[in-house]
Amino acid sequence: MWAIETRNLRKVYRPLFGGNPITAVDNLNLQVPAGTVFGFLGPNGAGKTTTIQILIGNVYPTAGEAFVLGHRAGALAAKRKLGFLPEKFQFHDFLTAEEFLRMHGRLAKMDRTTLQRRIDEVLELVGLAERRTSKIREFSKGMQQRVGLAQAILHDPDLVILDEPTSALDPLGRRRVREVVQYLKERGKTVFLNSHLLSEVERSCDQVAIINKGRVIVQGTLDELLVNRSVVRVELRRVEPCVLEAAAKVAQKVHPVDERCFTAEVASEDDIPELARAILDAGGALIGLQAHRETLEDLFIQTVEAEGR
Ligand SMILES: Nc1ncnc2c1ncn2[C@@H]1O[C@H](COP(=O)(O)OP(=O)(O)OP(=O)(O)O)[C@@H](O)[C@H]1O
Ligand SMILES: [Mg+2]
Repeated sequence: MWAIETRNLRKVYRPLFGGNPITAVDNLNLQVPAGTVFGFLGPNGAGKTTTIQILIGNVYPTAGEAFVLGHRAGALAAKRKLGFLPEKFQFHDFLTAEEFLRMHGRLAKMDRTTLQRRIDEVLELVGLAERRTSKIREFSKGMQQRVGLAQAILHDPDLVILDEPTSALDPLGRRRVREVVQYLKERGKTVFLNSHLLSEVERSCDQVAIINKGRVIVQGTLDELLVNRSVVRVELRRVEPCVLEAAAKVAQKVHPVDERCFTAEVASEDDIPELARAILDAGGALIGLQAHRETLEDLFIQTVEAEGR
């Protein structure tokens, strides 16, 4: 079963008083398998938050369909099993962390004993157990984000949607969020998160989709997408066209950088010695060669830039 599925989802914002309509989501097709940690990525303005707002039932799509845990997005049955951390959280900041969670638990119709137990558990999980009686207004922004996360997982939802859960967090806080995500995954939950911190995403997600201008441009497991590909930075006394040609026979892609340097993407590390040989055979005066495994950031920049052209 898909935890989230969208079919040709579309959202066009039409300004009330004239101006051009904005297509925030444009025929978006997404399939998120249950039990996975899914990274929903894309540049600023790509339509991530709008998609999430549709999934949680806050925004009504212009066209297409969205399903959450087998129910139509926005249906009560879907909302009950869903936890959500918004991008811009505005809490009732006159409440203490504990009062705030209690209020949410009651809204989710949790019984008194379970609620008390869960409040203790989630405050511990997000690292706020000691600050439970402080007013949210007195919290730093990172602490507020942690309360938001505690609220999102309080009622033990099957699907947790986190819109930039770590944007305000220090490195320790980010690690804690990774641990919470892991904890949810071990309990068979689905986590759908959006973040610009791609190294975080690479560490915690099983699958990602990269969207741009409201459409999915790449989707797959990290293993599929970053399979063993290496990017090699080659430095020469001078980059001659014949050297680039020779390199292009071994590499999948060659990008000239400047007159002394080019990068080459090879299918696997095993191709690197052959690449060096091809460069030398073509008369290239090789000075340096440095390889790194392709990262999610490399993939993100390449795919989004390629789209922009
Ligand atoms: N309520 C709204 N009214 C009009 N336009 C909107 C509204 N919400 C979003 N948009 C527009 O829709 C597009 C997508 O915005 P969205 O917030 O979904 O992007 P995002 O991918 O979440 O970006 P970011 O990474 O910056 O959070 C943008 O062009 C934005 O200006
Ligand atoms: Mg957003």
